[in-house]
Amino acid sequence: FGDGALAGLRVLVSAGPTYEDIDPVRFIGNRSSGRMGFAVAEAAASAGAQVTLVAGPVSLPSPAGIARRLDVRSAAQMREAVLGAAASADIYIGAAAVGDYRPAQVASRKLKKRDGAPLVLDLAENPDILKDLAAASPHAFLVGFAAETHDVAAYAQDKLARKGLDMIAANRVGEGLGFEADDNALSLYWPGGGEELPRASKRALAARLIARVAERYRMARS
Ligand code: C5P
Repeated sequence: FGDGALAGLRVLVSAGPTYEDIDPVRFIGNRSSGRMGFAVAEAAASAGAQVTLVAGPVSLPSPAGIARRLDVRSAAQMREAVLGAAASADIYIGAAAVGDYRPAQVASRKLKKRDGAPLVLDLAENPDILKDLAAASPHAFLVGFAAETHDVAAYAQDKLARKGLDMIAANRVGEGLGFEADDNALSLYWPGGGEELPRASKRALAARLIARVAERYRMARS
């Protein structure tokens, strides 16, 4: 444990997309690069936290200063890694873009073309990792992310309440921001307040997010 706003605290961060296999060669994924979550993990480590990073399939080197990295592929694997590590975490920051659905059956052989007939995939809903963490008692200080294409504030505030979170960081995807981009812009909400973090590098935003998380954590636990 070092000096800094999160000294002595254990922070668990999830980052990146999840891949849900359809058959041995295909999957359903999403456009998360993992860069925002990796920047958050690095910022938490430089604020003195002992950081565990659960990473979906990304091609990124481990952030400087983190204690542990667990690589996973599917939402089910991410859930198992996060739930396993959450019991010893003071703060959980869910920056991963967890797939909402997975193929209900994973084909053991490569699916073949169907001579022009449509292929129908049955999808099953994945459990919500954040919701499950919020249902445990006691549980870590919970920070969620919300990537939205429209009505950002309304959806984010609804998610904050519905998932029982301590804070949510919302961004509008598209317009050169968000997924696969170097820059981002975040709106932070917590029960009774919020802060706008205007367009900046993901690294700079992560530092500001971590400063606010540290402050809110201390207030919640005092
Ligand atoms: O509801 P939505 O997926 O937009 O919420 C995003 C937030 O919820 C993120 O923090 C994400 O990591 C988390 N989440 C989760 N488990 C899921 C889906 C989303 O923890 N199955």
